[in-house]
Amino acid sequence: MSKRLHNKVALITGGASGIGAAHVRIFAEAGARVLLCDLQEEMGRGVVDEANRKGGEVAFFKLDVADEANWKTAVAEAVKRFGSLTTLINNAGIYHAGEVDTETNEGWNRMIAINQTGVWWGMKAAMPELLKSGNAAIVNISSLYGVVGSPGSIAYHASKGAVRLMSKSAAIQYARQGVRVNTVFPGVIKTPILGDVPDHMMKALEESIPMGKRGMPEDIANASLYLCSDEAQYVTGAEILVDGGSSSI
Ligand SMILES: NC(=O)c1ccc[n+]([C@@H]2O[C@H](COP(=O)([O-])OP(=O)(O)OC[C@H]3O[C@@H](n4cnc5c(N)ncnc54)[C@H](O)[C@@H]3O)[C@@H](O)[C@H]2O)c1
Repeated sequence: MSKRLHNKVALITGGASGIGAAHVRIFAEAGARVLLCDLQEEMGRGVVDEANRKGGEVAFFKLDVADEANWKTAVAEAVKRFGSLTTLINNAGIYHAGEVDTETNEGWNRMIAINQTGVWWGMKAAMPELLKSGNAAIVNISSLYGVVGSPGSIAYHASKGAVRLMSKSAAIQYARQGVRVNTVFPGVIKTPILGDVPDHMMKALEESIPMGKRGMPEDIANASLYLCSDEAQYVTGAEILVDGGSSSI
């Protein structure tokens, strides 16, 4: 039996850590060739080496998703190395706390540049190659906080809510051209992004999750694996919440 991502070439952003690194591992095991893109070179190369030791075909490229010119080079690098691009995972993202009255313009602009504009630039830069492939998939990683509100971070909610509807808009635009666009919404997942949240607050957060625990990065990557495989050939504009039931409360 051929592997689920046989013949796929994936560009995965934020692949050096957490959810992105799980995507790299799982996609490589499923047969995809992967360009791991991240700002963190040392950590990224560590993930690359580990995947290649297990028989994967993975390379590193230093990408700042908030730099449009850098995006064009990253896509060119994927095509140069692997011959095509069929799959894009827009996963890189940041979080910081900041409410309506406390967020700064600088903080707002940085969050929007990475979490929102970076996703648009990624889709824009990759699209010519994805269209050439004729059987392509994009997964944009939003968040439970792209669907429901919370008092924590006005800019994070704004950026993740935008990812949700940018994905649907692109899904409709490209529905007849062989590029599917879907969104995965992680709930609370064990990664470094929430490292600043104090233990007692994390405990309360976990208590509020119907399943009573955080999810693992692999739980998110497995949802993307389905969406990027040919098993999901009729799925576009979809939303998969991987949140232990949090959005159902
Ligand atoms: N962990 C959670 O609970 C959770 C919940 C909902 C959504 N998410 C989303 O999942 C995605 C991955 O988050 P994670 O939890 O794995 O966090 P993480 O901090 O472990 O990983 C994020 C990665 O993105 C990279 N990155 C940040 N800015 C970048 C930039 N400008 N250019 C390129 N790379 C950049 C970082 O270097 C890092 O490797 C993010 O979009 C995040 O918002 C996470």
